[in-house]
Amino acid sequence: MAVKEQAENLIEHIHSEAYGARYNLQNLNHATMLCVAGRAREQLNGRWFFTVDPYDTGLRVGWHLPPETDAQGNRLPWDYDPDDGETIQVPSCWNMHRPEYFYYEGSAWYAREFTYLPEQSDERVFLRIGAANYDTMVFLNHQYLGNHYGGSTPFFVELTGQLRQKNVIQVCVNNDRTLDRVPCRNIDWFNYGGIYRDIELFRVPPAFIQTFQAYLVPNNAYNQIAVTVAVSDATAQDDIQISIPELGITQTFPLQDGRVTAIIAATPELWSPEDPKRYRVEARFRQDSISDMIGFRQISVEGTTILLNGKPVFLRGICVHEDDAQTGKTSSREDVLRRFQHAKELGCNFLRLAHYPHHELSAEIADEVGLMLWEEVPVYWAIDFPNPATYKDAENQLLELIKRDFNRASVIIWSVGNENADTDTRLAFMSGLAKAAKAYDPSRLVSAACLVNHQKIKIEDRLAEFLDVIGLNEYYGWYNPNYDELVQLGRNSNPDKPVIITETGADARAGEHGSRSDKFTEEYMEEVYRRQIAMIRTLDYVKGMSPWILYDFRASRRFNRYQQGFNRKGLIAADKQTKKLAFYVLQGFYREKAGF
Ligand code: GCU
Repeated sequence: MAVKEQAENLIEHIHSEAYGARYNLQNLNHATMLCVAGRAREQLNGRWFFTVDPYDTGLRVGWHLPPETDAQGNRLPWDYDPDDGETIQVPSCWNMHRPEYFYYEGSAWYAREFTYLPEQSDERVFLRIGAANYDTMVFLNHQYLGNHYGGSTPFFVELTGQLRQKNVIQVCVNNDRTLDRVPCRNIDWFNYGGIYRDIELFRVPPAFIQTFQAYLVPNNAYNQIAVTVAVSDATAQDDIQISIPELGITQTFPLQDGRVTAIIAATPELWSPEDPKRYRVEARFRQDSISDMIGFRQISVEGTTILLNGKPVFLRGICVHEDDAQTGKTSSREDVLRRFQHAKELGCNFLRLAHYPHHELSAEIADEVGLMLWEEVPVYWAIDFPNPATYKDAENQLLELIKRDFNRASVIIWSVGNENADTDTRLAFMSGLAKAAKAYDPSRLVSAACLVNHQKIKIEDRLAEFLDVIGLNEYYGWYNPNYDELVQLGRNSNPDKPVIITETGADARAGEHGSRSDKFTEEYMEEVYRRQIAMIRTLDYVKGMSPWILYDFRASRRFNRYQQGFNRKGLIAADKQTKKLAFYVLQGFYREKAGF
């Protein structure tokens, strides 16, 4: 037995590098989510005290603990004030807060006080953080409550029993890019950090509706609505009342072990981009009630055809990142509406929300305005595929996304990743995610953005067996200037399921002009779109496309004279106003496809 090393003068917070383990519970995850549809929301947004913490001193020392004193009660020296100093707006990205923090990666601490006055003596209180990138640790009144892994999905932590009238909440957020996280270290977008979506309180009765998911049973008959409900703290006699007033439906169903999937006979008007019809759906369980506006539609595949409500559809799409020159990854309703207006102007009926779950506003507004969405988890490029902890993180992010947006008719595809090399460990990892998505959600298609098999110049990827639709990223004309290979790709490929060209395009700085062979000019980019569209027309198994990308966006790998820290493949410049020539080429094609 090795003799335990004992140092006479050990001071743990400067000699121990094992400080992280006690905070990495990942206990805030998809299993602790609750349904918030129609619930009252109390926001904790606003100015929070803020400090960066590049050496994790806060976790080492315990910046959440009460002030330390000596035997006489005199305060010992300290290095952090949770109630003084710099403040930052929540939600926001710390990179945009001030120039010194632009490229900051590491930990940062948020703190604020808030008053809590109970409304019901037995109410339960949950904190919801819409998203914080990446590892988020929550402390309340000097107690560590737990942490969440993942930079783009919401999570909850129960505060019941820990609250007093005056409370101090502290949140430590770490956005380091590491080998075992999802995404990993190398990404082609900007690694923003911080609490960048809303932070809110929810009050619920002692027994409440935890999960509420409604969908049209995909039986090609359009005559049944399934509603899956799960409640907390149910007893054997409990039941749930479900109402869809506009359909004249009010039915009660017994709960088995706190859950039920009720099948309700109904023939709702179907949701589609052309007619985004939604119904108010309500549920009542003891003193708890929720309501949601839900569209009912069926998305399915037959051979190489994608069908919406039984009719073949061509997905006229465009990719979009969550990125803004002023606000970074923080999205507002106006920002999302602008994205969708530009997409509609382009002639789109579809968007690929790359490469991570976007703000829930996106699916909510897409439901309203009539756009179909591809939503994706950031299993991007190289991932630590052999690592079980990495798989658990990726699957949790996927289930958090699915649970968050389950009732959004606009979401038609869950994507389990992007441009991953076809290896055995990647196949096990991503087929596992595909199966998890299919098992949890029978109402949507599953896909991934795959790479061309460049050895065979063919659409071929072992993951395709586990997908309903094959996403394909190909950059013939840009990274591979040889258009002849694009023709060969078409000839060599014979997929047995629909293909969506999930990325293609070229960089061009807006206003840069030259010949069609001058890279980074608008004319070059325009020619790539022309040649791509000419080819895509000939491939009858291609049932959609979402070229890369709607707007130029920040990318910390691109610094040449045209890029200057941005990826310039946007059809519109980063000012979200200046259109490039290629915009009109794609618009012309989509207008033709839409039968204008
Ligand atoms: C890849 C990747 C994108 C990237 C794009 C590019 O396909 O999926 O995230 O930005 O190519 O190279 O511009």
